[in-house]
Amino acid sequence: MAQTMLPAGTLTGKTAVVTGGGTGMGRGFATELARLGAHVVLAGRKEERLAAAADAIQSEGGQASYFATDIRDPEQVEALMNTAVERTGHLDILVNNAAGNFIVDSDKLSVNGWNSVVNTVLNGTFYCTRAAGLKMIEAGNGGKILSVVASYAWTGGPRTVHSVAAKAGVTAMTKTLGVEWAHHGIRVNAICPGPTDTEGARPLWADPEEEKRLRAKIPVGRFGTVEEMAQAASYLLSPYADFVNGEVFVIDGGEWLGKGLTS
Ligand code: HXC
Repeated sequence: MAQTMLPAGTLTGKTAVVTGGGTGMGRGFATELARLGAHVVLAGRKEERLAAAADAIQSEGGQASYFATDIRDPEQVEALMNTAVERTGHLDILVNNAAGNFIVDSDKLSVNGWNSVVNTVLNGTFYCTRAAGLKMIEAGNGGKILSVVASYAWTGGPRTVHSVAAKAGVTAMTKTLGVEWAHHGIRVNAICPGPTDTEGARPLWADPEEEKRLRAKIPVGRFGTVEEMAQAASYLLSPYADFVNGEVFVIDGGEWLGKGLTS
């Protein structure tokens, strides 16, 4: 990372679980948290991706381990949080990054398709938040929880109704738990990335015409980078943001604001 906002050592001694940490934005979050000194525990379904990401972080001098987890299974989630505490003695940070979606007309979306996205994005985020939050409350040292949402949670997003509804739920959960768990010293926030150049999102604009169309919708004229999202996330997970709570931080080049009829 060429330029960094927070000094190395900011998160020394902290343990962070990052779901979906093997690839894309989750790997970016984990890399930056490790650079700041945290021990990161990468969670995700595919062990080989987790291992590769953990190796890369370790080769840069960071502390990383992994635990294969499907966040749709509360027992696996419980085992993930137990493992993080067993390995490091504590759990201080949770990043709810894992998600899944696909573009589909709502009248063609099956119940199973709805459930597969809602179970991952909304239920999986709750299972992780609950399991990590209970550990943080029990330990009595506070903690930080950060989820990843999308602006279609409040604008609506045709052809992604499953993800829209689930991200709206995560947004509401963030605000609710920010208030409810504040007295435990737990800060609950979210970031809301706009279109970001990751290997998962890139196929969406593989067609140059589609890329042009999408860029034109973003006032700053480009997609975001994983590093930009990781820096925003790290700030919210650092002591510098101890007075930020229940907040959703939008990082999208103004994309969601550009809805006026004259723009
Ligand atoms: C219609 C689909 C479908 C599709 C799955 N389903 N994909 N329906 N169109 N493209 C339906 C299936 O038919 C099935 O219903 C049900 O969903 C479950 O399918 P599974 O394959 O068994 O799902 P599962 O293994 O649970 O996979 C979850 C998933 C999958 C969400 C469906 O796509 C996934 O794991 N994705 C993770 C990666 C991902 O989503 N990447 C995008 C991130 S990038 P039936 O009724 O047939 O049984 C990103 C950037 C956005 O989000 C940027 C916006 C600008």
